[in-house]
Amino acid sequence: MKASEAGAFWERNAKTWTRHVRAGYDIYRDVLNSPTFLDALPPIDGQRGLDLGCGEGANTRHLARRGAHMDGIDIAPTFIRHARAAETAEPLGISYAVADGTSLPFAGASFDFVTAFMSLMDMPDIDGVLAEAWRVVRPGGFLQFSIVHPCFAPPHRKVLRDSRGETRAVELADYFSARHGEVERWGFKSAPAAEKAASPLFEVPRFHRTLSQWVDALVGAGFVLERMVEPCASPELAAAQPVVADTRVVPQALIVRGRRPREAVGAP
Ligand SMILES: C[S@@+](CC[C@H](N)C(=O)[O-])C[C@H]1O[C@@H](n2cnc3c(N)ncnc32)[C@H](O)[C@@H]1O
Repeated sequence: MKASEAGAFWERNAKTWTRHVRAGYDIYRDVLNSPTFLDALPPIDGQRGLDLGCGEGANTRHLARRGAHMDGIDIAPTFIRHARAAETAEPLGISYAVADGTSLPFAGASFDFVTAFMSLMDMPDIDGVLAEAWRVVRPGGFLQFSIVHPCFAPPHRKVLRDSRGETRAVELADYFSARHGEVERWGFKSAPAAEKAASPLFEVPRFHRTLSQWVDALVGAGFVLERMVEPCASPELAAAQPVVADTRVVPQALIVRGRRPREAVGAP
């Protein structure tokens, strides 16, 4: 599948997706994954950052509120329209553009850091995207991204619950089965029934890679692997937001940071 074909699915998802995430139905993102990602960042105050696959821009705005000078790009024009509308309503100095991650409209070494919140696993040409991230980040700068956990959310994942409805285990399979654009249909489980009934399911092309393929791609692009974090709900958070309680059994997301070395790395 080409990036433009995957992008067309996201363009069709964008209107409902924006309404649902802004209504608070993406509970994993809001209460666990984004806060853990932001806590894992090195200092970004005063730095120039690019958010890849920014969607409607909620996480780009979090970064700007932490003092970074942000650009955001996304392949889906409707997401960028909603992101720009939010910028008009609450100006944070963010510039948004419609672009594909494999062809970034920025000069080399333009940014101190690049982020990608739960977006790289939706892009077919990960080598092309990582090469572009490496090009636009300055030597010494970093790329931090989150993805659906390749080990604990492979193509087959089923939460097994006990008689009280609490997560007992997670059944996993098909870890080594490549996925290159098979379309999954789903909606946010936390949306109210009336909203679910009135909304089309999202159609999301899936590009599953194993953990070693992700690390090989990051290192192959020239980054040095610096940090990995697996968001896990605290007992208090799991009690308050039972949707994320399964992350106390196995993680649902993986956060990875790589750094572009200051000096060109030559052969030994
Ligand atoms: C799961 S959403 C995440 C959105 C946002 N980062 C967030 O955390 O709310 C994945 C995003 O990746 C974008 N995307 C998919 N393929 C892309 C590509 N090739 N280049 C840029 N963005 C892309 C989609 O349009 C979508 O906005």
